[in-house]
Amino acid sequence: MNSTQLSKIAAAIVMSLLALIVIGKLTSFVYAPQTPDKPGFAVAVEEAHDTVAVEQAPQVDLAALMAVADVAKGQTVAKKCIACHTFEKGGKDKAGPNLYNVLNRELASNDGYKYSKAFVAKNAEGTKWGYEELFEFFKKPSAYIKGTAMGFGGIKKETQRADLIAYLRSLSENPAELPMAQ
Ligand code: HEC
Repeated sequence: MNSTQLSKIAAAIVMSLLALIVIGKLTSFVYAPQTPDKPGFAVAVEEAHDTVAVEQAPQVDLAALMAVADVAKGQTVAKKCIACHTFEKGGKDKAGPNLYNVLNRELASNDGYKYSKAFVAKNAEGTKWGYEELFEFFKKPSAYIKGTAMGFGGIKKETQRADLIAYLRSLSENPAELPMAQ
């Protein structure tokens, strides 16, 4: 190996070292970690929040509905029922049982009235007429208790059902507590 060859090799080594340094600088520039102004997972939290909002379908706030329900309006709604029900204390049973003090009463518990098999079966489950039960029943009786003898289509409007329940609640010597906000 002569000196020319040696210097060529030395030059090649120097050149490749230089190239490495230059490449190193360039890549560190391109891939330099950038510190974000805000931590990235603030976005992730928002996304999680959105998902929860979608999963929780809007629910009826019965306590809120009952808090503003109107007894007088409920009495007007109850005109739909008087063909089959009486509401006063000791009132007679018609096609349907007397409804005095029905709120919180055990389902199908009016002595002397002959309930349908569907009602008797539901009574065996120990169901009582709480706010939620009446609210669902009045929406569509035949859906709430399949096979019921109550031939009444139902009341779609939530506020009307709440008013009706407020009226039923008032038909008692000792009106039940209003439902508590959840
Ligand atoms: C066409 C007649 C008819 C109409 C109208 C009717 N009901 Fe009834 N209702 C019945 C019958 C019959 C039953 C008994 C159901 C059974 O045994 O399956 C009943 C049962 C009930 C019960 C359950 C009582 C208990 O002792 O468990 C409630 C509460 C009730 N009705 C409320 C109403 C209200 C409020 C309305 C008006 C919005 C109404 N009903 C309209 C015939 C009727």
